[in-house]
Amino acid sequence: MASPQRTKRPLTEPSRRLEAVPAYMFAELERRVAEKRAAGVDVISLGIGDPDRATFPHIVEAMQIAVADPANHRYPTNRGREEFRRGFANYYDERFGVEIDPESEVMAAIGAKECIYHLCFAFLDPGDLALAADPGYPVYTGGPALAAARAALMPLRPEIGFGPDLDAIGAEDLERARLMFLNYPNNPTGAVAPEGLFERAVELAREHEILVVHDNAYSETTYDGYVAPSFLATPGAKDVGVEVFSLSKGFNMTGWRCAAILGNPEAIATYWRLKTNVDSGMFEALQIAGAAALAGPRGPIEEMNAIYARRRDLVVDALREIGVDVEPPRGTIYVWAPVPSGHTSISFAELVLEEAAVVVSPG
Ligand SMILES: Cc1ncc(COP(=O)(O)O)c(C=O)c1O
Repeated sequence: MASPQRTKRPLTEPSRRLEAVPAYMFAELERRVAEKRAAGVDVISLGIGDPDRATFPHIVEAMQIAVADPANHRYPTNRGREEFRRGFANYYDERFGVEIDPESEVMAAIGAKECIYHLCFAFLDPGDLALAADPGYPVYTGGPALAAARAALMPLRPEIGFGPDLDAIGAEDLERARLMFLNYPNNPTGAVAPEGLFERAVELAREHEILVVHDNAYSETTYDGYVAPSFLATPGAKDVGVEVFSLSKGFNMTGWRCAAILGNPEAIATYWRLKTNVDSGMFEALQIAGAAALAGPRGPIEEMNAIYARRRDLVVDALREIGVDVEPPRGTIYVWAPVPSGHTSISFAELVLEEAAVVVSPG
């Protein structure tokens, strides 16, 4: 008897969607650093934006109390506790002058990364597009690919303050686009929101039925007196957009996985619908600690920013000394620098790792 023809793929072969996404750059960097360290090399990692200072004490203390309370040990709700949502509403009012309805316009997210990724699943079908800044946070392109959709890159143009030229987006891309990712202060260029960009994004989104997702990971990490706005402070922004606000960087909480999505209530309801099928919400104790972070003093944030500004100046001065001309960024924890001619950013990052045991991220 003839054996049945094998048509199935081997049992450990990844899905085609996963195959379509390049290895996550920082996972690859982590692997290289671990290899070097195992070989006894003292590696200095400047490669990933991860605050090296402890989470502020008042946040840790709030967590210690909350974690000991059995009332917080059960399944949380996906939306987040009232105290957490109200904490965000108060913060947005006081810090950004933005009114948020704690019932319908804010919901917990287990980090901005999770939120951005799941927004792709909530809003993109095969054939749809997400407009993503280039260079940009990798999830703006990986998320759409994993959702079997596509990302169309919007080059960030230095001559317009590292904004995308929204008027250069092709008609077909505008027709297919359902999401537009923006992020200011910007990873990796360090740019702050160019004047008029948010307003133009709102107009375009309205005209073409595009949901704007503003990734607000760095609004609290700014220098030289610059105060970053919320996208939601732009007139009409709540009609067409959401903002993802993460506590990771501004509050030294990258390991805690604490963020929220705010803005358009229908979009948030859709994200909620997806999330009820995906996870079971954010640990209640973490929500209590997150609310304590938002209600806490600004002093520790300002102290962190003073440390970062000093480090930024050291890096910028050192780069200028070796002939690399960079502008000191007014926000984020990144310096975006051109590589010497003859190198790609990958070959240069490898050279720096090999020769100096310093990790930098290729752009
Ligand atoms: C622009 C941007 N968005 C999101 C994130 C991830 O934030 P979270 O830790 O809240 O997932 C990062 C982290 O580097 C980032 O740079």
